[in-house]
Amino acid sequence: MKSPAFARRRQFIALVAVGLALAGCKPSADSGKTGDSSTGPIVVGEFASLHGSEAAFGQSSHKGTELAFDKIKATGGLLGREVKLIVEDNQSKAGESVTIAKKFLSRDHVVAVLGEVASGRSLEAGPICQAAGIPMISPSSTNPKVTEVGDHVFRVCFTDPFQGKLLSDFAWKTLKVRKVAILSDTASAYSVGLAEFFKQPFVAAGGEVVLEVKYASRDKDFKAQLTAIKASSPDGICVPGYYTEVGLIVKQARELGLTIPIFGGDGWEAPQLIEIAGGDALKNTYYSTHFSPSQDSPAVKEFVAAFKAKYNEVPDAMAALGYDSAMALAEAIKKAGTTDPAKLTAALAATDFTGVTGRTKLDAQRNATKPAVIITVENGQFKFLQTVEP
Ligand code: PHE
Repeated sequence: MKSPAFARRRQFIALVAVGLALAGCKPSADSGKTGDSSTGPIVVGEFASLHGSEAAFGQSSHKGTELAFDKIKATGGLLGREVKLIVEDNQSKAGESVTIAKKFLSRDHVVAVLGEVASGRSLEAGPICQAAGIPMISPSSTNPKVTEVGDHVFRVCFTDPFQGKLLSDFAWKTLKVRKVAILSDTASAYSVGLAEFFKQPFVAAGGEVVLEVKYASRDKDFKAQLTAIKASSPDGICVPGYYTEVGLIVKQARELGLTIPIFGGDGWEAPQLIEIAGGDALKNTYYSTHFSPSQDSPAVKEFVAAFKAKYNEVPDAMAALGYDSAMALAEAIKKAGTTDPAKLTAALAATDFTGVTGRTKLDAQRNATKPAVIITVENGQFKFLQTVEP
C-alpha cells in the first residue's frame, strides 16, 4: 500500500506536470497548488456534451447534477463549507474532454470530477484524473473500460455486459428474434462494446447473426447498410448507437420497408430520437436504459416533482444518473470528513448509496450492479415496458 504522503506527492508532481503543460512549460503562479485547500468552497468540475451531436446527453445529465447541487447547497453545503460546481462543455467533440480535465485540475483545483455520459469521452478524461489522483465519477458511461482506467475512476450505473445480455434476452424471449442484423458505430467505444456484449449471449442462446454492418458517428445516410440488411432477411435489427444516428437509421429503415423490430441500448435515450425518426417509424422499436420517470417509488416521485418544478420537464435516465452521481459524491465527502483526495477516493470506493436510480453499491472494480428498464415508443411517446433485475 502506498502511503497517503506518497500519494499526495505523486498527485502534486502530476499536477505540476499538467500545469506546466498547460502553461506551455512556463511555471505559473498557480502551478504548484493541489485540489484541496481545506478552506473556502469545495469545488467540483463537471464536463458534459452541452452542444453538438450528443447535446441531449450533457444537457440532461447536467440538469440532474445541478438539481443535486441545489439540494446540497440548500442543506448547508458540505463539511461546513460552501460547494461550487464548475461546468465545462466539450461540445460532443473528441479531444476536448482531456483539455477540460487538465484545466479542472490545474486551474480550478477541483476535489472531484463528474462526467461524462458518453463512454468515449469518459475514457478521455479518466486517465488525466487517474494520473492526478483526483476521483472522477461517470454518471452513465457503461463501457467496462471506463473504470478499468484505474482506482480513481468510478461510475454509478450498470455496465454493458449486463446491458448486452438483457437486450439479447429481450430480443430472444420477448421479440422472438432468431436471426439478427447488427448495425454499430465504429467511432464509438460504447457502440463497439455493446454490439459485442449483445452478440455473445445471443449466439450462445442459439441465435444467428446474419449480418454485421458499420457506420461512423455523424453519418447521415444509412441506405447502403440498410439495403444490405434487408437482403440478409433478419427478423430483428440491433442498433447499439446514439440517438442522432439511431433516429436517422430507424427512419430510413422504415422508408426501405423494413418493419421488423429495431432495438438498442441507453444511447437511444433523448426526446430528439422522436423528433428525428418520427413517432410512426419508432413503432416496434425498443431500448434499454437506467430509469423511467413512471417508476412507482417515493424517491422517483419526489425527484420527478423537483425536476419538473425547476425545469418544467420530465427527467430521463441521464438526468437521474447525473443527480445520483453528485449525491454519491456528496455522501462520500461527508463520510470521508475531508476532501483529501486519497481519503475521498477510499470513501467513494465504499459507496453504498440509494438514490433515484436505486441502490448504488460499488464493487471492487468501482462498478454498480443495478436494474435496467425497457422502453418502447407508442403513439409518438416513450412508454415504460418492464424492469429487468440484474
Ligand atoms: N451508456 C452510454 C455510453 O456509455 C451513454 C448513455 C447513458 C446514453 C445513459 C444515454 C443514457 O456511452
